[in-house]
Amino acid sequence: MDLQIPHILPAGETMTLGQRLGVARARTESLCVPLEIEDYVIQSMAEVSPPKWHLAHTTWFFETFILLPLAPGYRVFDEAYAHLFNSYYETAGTFFPRNQRGLLARPPVAEICRYRSHVDEALQALLDDLPQPSAHDILARIKLGIEHETQHQELLLMDVKYNFFINPLKPAYRDAANLPLSAPPMSWQAFGGGIVEIGHDGTGFSFDNERPRHQTLLQDFRLGSRLVSNKEYLDFIADGGYQRPELWLSDGWHTISAQRWLAPLYWIKERNDWQQFTLSGMRPLNPHEPVAHLSYFEADAYARWAGKRLPTEAEWEHAAASLPVAGNFLESGLLHPQAAQQSGLDQLYGDLWEWTQSAYTPYPGFRPLPGTLGEYNGKFMSGQMVLRGGCCATAQEHIRSSYRNFFRPADRWMFSGLRLAEDA
Ligand SMILES: [Fe+2]
Repeated sequence: MDLQIPHILPAGETMTLGQRLGVARARTESLCVPLEIEDYVIQSMAEVSPPKWHLAHTTWFFETFILLPLAPGYRVFDEAYAHLFNSYYETAGTFFPRNQRGLLARPPVAEICRYRSHVDEALQALLDDLPQPSAHDILARIKLGIEHETQHQELLLMDVKYNFFINPLKPAYRDAANLPLSAPPMSWQAFGGGIVEIGHDGTGFSFDNERPRHQTLLQDFRLGSRLVSNKEYLDFIADGGYQRPELWLSDGWHTISAQRWLAPLYWIKERNDWQQFTLSGMRPLNPHEPVAHLSYFEADAYARWAGKRLPTEAEWEHAAASLPVAGNFLESGLLHPQAAQQSGLDQLYGDLWEWTQSAYTPYPGFRPLPGTLGEYNGKFMSGQMVLRGGCCATAQEHIRSSYRNFFRPADRWMFSGLRLAEDA
């Protein structure tokens, strides 16, 4: 089955905000088309949420942060949903335990679909008759809601992949696509150091964690031209990479020992051949595709083994800022990273999120959004590392050079990979 994924045109094109909202909401639903009704309720680990919960939570976000405070006369769909579908907003009320979302047989999927329609109609009515003086606030929050919805589209795909993986039937979410079978050799791209600026430049949407734009000092550095490939990572495994404590951070060594990791997530060795679980089911490992589903610990250990290091987020952004945001994103429909296709600097955008060695901390002068929405990003600035560039499950229009994603160092169910860096 070919996925039909609705596109949102870039800002400044002919779509109104109402149309952009409609497309974003429809895209979440289009990503659910390949699912059977039973798939909507599965939660295979604490970090994963059931598709039904994603459908409801993104709707709760619009209802809670726009309709209830700002739409005159809005009628709440169901009072109980405030508790069921709040994710982590402590100042918005209580929430159902994250690791038990898969226990919610009710409300049924059909009811969640009615909830979505109810909220969508109210949002469009609000846009048609914007109350003053809150119009500016409403428009800003709808833009945030669209970006939030788009983030959950990627989460939904990540979560479906893990849910399907733990099933011995190894079901496919979509048919296998034709992917390139070879990649050019990696080369090194040099960048001059000095005082550079990073952070969002104020054009278009940004999250609070990308601001303010500020100066930072870079030394001369080089980046690998493409993502590290499966073949290169296999060399690390064959050289005893997972058995050599000198290659690992202490927390990483304890993690791989406790979890008994011997390879990236989704790799399965059958006889002497590596297979990889994908959203198209099990497939032979293509040595030229980028190695995917690595934890920070594995990316860091590989770089140390290779005699290199991970880039900092400032190096990554400085290198990416002048490039067009183009690559293998959600819109390609592949939902899998593909082998690099250019011998120059390639794959900075799309394919896989790239681990950086930068901890997720506030930029100098960071100010979270006011009120409850201040919990969106700022409160997670502890114990997480920054990833950059988007992946094959991220919508292209969602990504900028200043976009900061973040995960805990042991997480690896997201589409994560690595690019090497070295000092010049
Ligand atoms: Fe959310």
